[in-house]
Amino acid sequence: MKQIARQCRAEGREPLLVPTMGALHEGHLSLVRAARADGGPVVVSIFVNPKQFGPKEDLEKYPRDLARDRELLEREGVAYVFAPPEEEMYPGGYGTHVEVEGLSTRLEGRVRPGHFRGVATVVLKLLEIVRPARAYFGRKDAQQARLIQQMVRDLDLNVEIIVCPIVREADGLALSSRNAYLSREERRAATVLHRALDGARQQILTGERDAARILAGVRGTIATEPLAALDYAELVSAATFEPVLFVRGAAYLAIAARIGTTRLIDNLYLEENGGTVVAAL
Ligand code: PAJ
Repeated sequence: MKQIARQCRAEGREPLLVPTMGALHEGHLSLVRAARADGGPVVVSIFVNPKQFGPKEDLEKYPRDLARDRELLEREGVAYVFAPPEEEMYPGGYGTHVEVEGLSTRLEGRVRPGHFRGVATVVLKLLEIVRPARAYFGRKDAQQARLIQQMVRDLDLNVEIIVCPIVREADGLALSSRNAYLSREERRAATVLHRALDGARQQILTGERDAARILAGVRGTIATEPLAALDYAELVSAATFEPVLFVRGAAYLAIAARIGTTRLIDNLYLEENGGTVVAAL
């Protein structure tokens, strides 16, 4: 992969990278299309990174279908699929990890200790192997994208991080490889995340700015769904992911909930400037 990427650069064709864990869906493909539109040879990495899964998480049962993924990517005109075996990414004696302070301990990081250390470590390795001009991430994982931007800044990496909008099903559920775990009943129940965020969006667009009142509405909506258990619902600064008391500047309303044993996350992006507000689901 390093050799191929070096060759591309030597020919003046800067590679573009889309990191994934496979089991590809339209959310992933939207990143691929954004990269394709930017022109360079697109590299899609597929690696189910064990370092970002907790001991009680779904590493073993995480969906894997490399043949299907390859076919989808071929149809999208992707130049290279990089799917390294685990021993190649983490050979015996592997010992270096990347810790992004602050950001990695909030929200997802608080519920999933060590998760973002695993994410930052693998993404730094992928960026170093491919050395892309740009790398593409989804806003579905807003905290992850922000953490990668922070790492790029802190370590002076020569890459531009592009953050793409959330792709949703017709009923609002954000696409995720983990949606495959949901039973029929759970799939129906899972729409409650989007309904809760959409309710908050309506509230904010009609003038509400107080975090406590907005979050009370979100918790109320999630509570109407017996199959859903809320992990967190927070209004946070888009820069630091620390809680804020009012909708002001750039912020996320971020939620995580368990539907049965499946954990889902979603968010609403907010930008308030002198009274006018943008609210993007
Ligand atoms: P994975 O969950 O496979 O997601 C790969 C990329 O697709 C991430 O940037 C994610 O935000 C984006 N994505 C997922 N669902 C999306 C949706 N509905 N709309 C838009 N984008 C979506 O995130 C990871 O893998 C890993 O942590 C990784 C970055 C590859 C490091 O291992």
